[in-house]
Amino acid sequence: MKSSIVTRPATGQDLAAITALQARVFGPGRFARSAYRVREGHGLMSRFCRVADCDGRLIATVRITVATIGGVPGAALLGPVAVDPEFRGQGYGRQLVSEALDALKAAGFSLVVLVGDEPYYGRFGFKPVPFKSIAFPGPVNPARILAVELVAGALPRYRGLVAAAPTPDGGGNA
Ligand SMILES: CC(C)(COP(=O)(O)OP(=O)(O)OC[C@H]1O[C@@H](n2cnc3c(N)ncnc32)[C@H](O)[C@@H]1OP(=O)(O)O)[C@@H](O)C(=O)NCCC(=O)NCCS
Repeated sequence: MKSSIVTRPATGQDLAAITALQARVFGPGRFARSAYRVREGHGLMSRFCRVADCDGRLIATVRITVATIGGVPGAALLGPVAVDPEFRGQGYGRQLVSEALDALKAAGFSLVVLVGDEPYYGRFGFKPVPFKSIAFPGPVNPARILAVELVAGALPRYRGLVAAAPTPDGGGNA
């Protein structure tokens, strides 16, 4: 039987499978990653998190954290993205990231930031931010802090520390 793969928003019921996939992909070092540090002490999921399923098995995930930067709202933190090693290089990472960015744009977000590889994330429009303009809790290689504007000209408004930001409309990190 041909397997069918679908992408969809994540729910609370996916949390165990998402956690298991992230543990498999990143190992114990994942807790030192920037996205984990930003989320520490806050809710675990936002409504923008997405997953891909293959016949009911979770094979890829992107986490999105609604954030403020220097206290300014309208930003989101992307990451981590994790694809099951068996399913890499087949476009699922790209699809999940594109869908998450589309959903954030439709919801009126202005900027998405991440810590990651420009050669991969450049295809979605992510670029390095001006030196020392955006900071993360914990040590981060500044060259890996990337951002994409969902609203043209938004980047200069965002300076300072990235922090998780629950929102009253349910779009937060509950
Ligand atoms: C990185 C990752 C999310 C990509 O997902 P994927 O579904 O395998 O990738 P896609 O099929 O969407 O895209 C594949 C393309 O990305 C490229 N790519 C993958 N990782 C890359 C990286 N670190 N830097 C540059 N390019 C990369 C591939 O070479 C391929 O290029 P092509 O389209 O020109 O052939 C996935 O490989 C993964 O889970 N890796 C381990 C965890 C990780 O590094 N996560 C990202 C940090 S949060």
